Amino acid sequence: MQYNFDEVIDRSNTGSIKWHYEDDTIPLWVADMDFKAAQTILDSINKVVEHGVLGYTKQTDALYDAIINWHSSRYGLTLSKENILFSPGVVPSISLMLNLFTEVGDAVLINDPIYTPFVTKTKLNGCKVISSALKEVNGRYEFDLADIEAKIKKHKVKVFLLCNPHNPGGRVWTKDELKAILNVCKKYNVAIVSDEIHQDLTLSGHTFTPFLTLADGYEHMVVSLTSMTKTFNIAGIKGSMIFAKDKAIVKQISNQQRLNDEYELNLFAYKVMQSAYEQGGEWLEQALSYIEKNIDLTIDYLATHLPDIKVMRPEASYLIWLDCSAYGDDDKVLYDKLRAARVELNSGIQYGQEGHLKMRINVACSESVLKEGLQRVKQALVDS
Ligand SMILES: Cc1ncc(COP(=O)(O)O)c(C=O)c1O
Repeated sequence: MQYNFDEVIDRSNTGSIKWHYEDDTIPLWVADMDFKAAQTILDSINKVVEHGVLGYTKQTDALYDAIINWHSSRYGLTLSKENILFSPGVVPSISLMLNLFTEVGDAVLINDPIYTPFVTKTKLNGCKVISSALKEVNGRYEFDLADIEAKIKKHKVKVFLLCNPHNPGGRVWTKDELKAILNVCKKYNVAIVSDEIHQDLTLSGHTFTPFLTLADGYEHMVVSLTSMTKTFNIAGIKGSMIFAKDKAIVKQISNQQRLNDEYELNLFAYKVMQSAYEQGGEWLEQALSYIEKNIDLTIDYLATHLPDIKVMRPEASYLIWLDCSAYGDDDKVLYDKLRAARVELNSGIQYGQEGHLKMRINVACSESVLKEGLQRVKQALVDS
């Protein structure tokens, strides 16, 4: 089936977090796409509705098989049913993992810039945030291994909260980069919690490596978190998975989840997850090729009209990290200027100090909306 990603679907007045305006502002911020979900997902919801009985529901073997097959066929990650736990979201799982691996006052290492809840959840869990700035090398981010090791040692870090692929920088960390992180964590007995929610949005020319495929012999200290919601643009459904290979860790996570009855998803999430992993590949392939075109369009537009913005081409996902320092010297003023031109981007500073005078733009929308949004960015930064 051919999907039409050019279609502009009115999302106003739906409770959408992204489309929250009274006027005609174009939202190029929060990480959801404006595209309609895959037909198989809509069909799976309709099937439940037609059946009409919405009682207590558990995971089926068919669901486990769908998850296992998706991850083994795409990434060579071998999972069994016993390695998979369910959680309402990756962010709630981050908190759960912090509970598991830390005590109040412990140090947690994160990179800067980083997806904001890495910081907020660490603080809310009573832990110290230790951040290691990513280094920009040839237009892309790299880990600063010496800094990471020094900070782990100095602060007796207990957990490295890793974002792979990275949000907001769009890096898909290579096997060698991840092995280097593994080695340093092993040396100091640091647990690794790998947020892999952007895994399936890896763009052409790059290869996603699940952290668990490298964790041989260290599996008692590695947990990965992922979800079908980002991949298939169904964040409103809520649902995610926790993968862990070590039996004792699985048991501990499971016990933690039972404290608050957080181990179950709703009926729709189970059905949608199964159908997405069984039959959503076709939609995903088309969505990714549309996104790649939008990324090219954005980079070309900015090179022509706003040549002093330094663009980090993403290796995964539809979020592009823009260095706008040539166009302002105050984060709030920059953000407000764009809002005044009726376009919203994420202010980079919300992702850490490294985000100073940077902006994150979301290009997962129809081409016509994107073009209008880019014109407004130009209007705000050049024409005003
Ligand atoms: C790196 C990362 N982790 C987690 C999430 C959200 O996960 P969830 O909605 O499952 O809590 C996002 C959403 O943008 C994200 O970018």
